[in-house]
Amino acid sequence: PPPPITRPDGALPVTIAHRGYSAVAPENTLAAVTAGIRAGAEYVEIDAHTTADGVPVVLHDSTVDRTTNGSGAVSALTAEYVTGLDAGSWFSPAYAGQRVPTLGQVLDLVRNTGSTLLLEVKAPRTSAQTEAIVSEVLRRGMAEQVLLQSFDVRVLRDTRELAPRIRLGLLRGGLDADPVATAKELGVVSYNPSADALLARPEVVERLNDAGIAVMPYTVDDAARWSRLAELGVDGIITNRAGEHSGWRRAA
Ligand code: G3P
Ligand code: CA
Repeated sequence: PPPPITRPDGALPVTIAHRGYSAVAPENTLAAVTAGIRAGAEYVEIDAHTTADGVPVVLHDSTVDRTTNGSGAVSALTAEYVTGLDAGSWFSPAYAGQRVPTLGQVLDLVRNTGSTLLLEVKAPRTSAQTEAIVSEVLRRGMAEQVLLQSFDVRVLRDTRELAPRIRLGLLRGGLDADPVATAKELGVVSYNPSADALLARPEVVERLNDAGIAVMPYTVDDAARWSRLAELGVDGIITNRAGEHSGWRRAA
């Protein structure tokens, strides 16, 4: 069975390695995902797009320019081209062998670990792109090991239609007037706002938790904010520094 998403009272938030353990390895590569798992992160967050030929691949931006040696929009490039690019050298020459992984490769890596994949679907232009990503999860029988999140409510609605078993999270830059109502309307089990927005209205954590909805703010890289959010009772914390995060937990 999938691990519980909301934490019992008094439990510390889980660690969510943002784009993998992206402080020490190039974001959204197999090296970063592996480092996140080794650091003990209960969840690993990654970003998914689809290529021109419909293959789900893992990288953050809608173009390959910043994090690889190639250029162009992912949605206009073939999977063969995108997955052949060097996705490590920009970060450090030590990672020159890293490629843009397919979503399938990341799912295979996370399978049989205790970690849950926090799979962010980046704004697709069509439902078919969401479907390609959801199908990859279902084909591997990993619906229970994935929490699928998006800023794009169309992605959440499409996923709920296609695969009601996949748990959903809503990403928000700013908070909704009534986060509980929005979360219920969309059928999400987790509400994942920017940490800044959440810290400006901390009372929403309890309201969401009382409604059985988890709260997993992003992106928190310092001990002081981590402690404040832990105190508020958030369920998970999304961080670039998954390794240090475990130290903050021990100190709490
Ligand atoms: O998981 C939350 C966070 O990843 C959302 O922002 O831009 O890093 O994908 P971004
Ligand atoms: Ca993300």
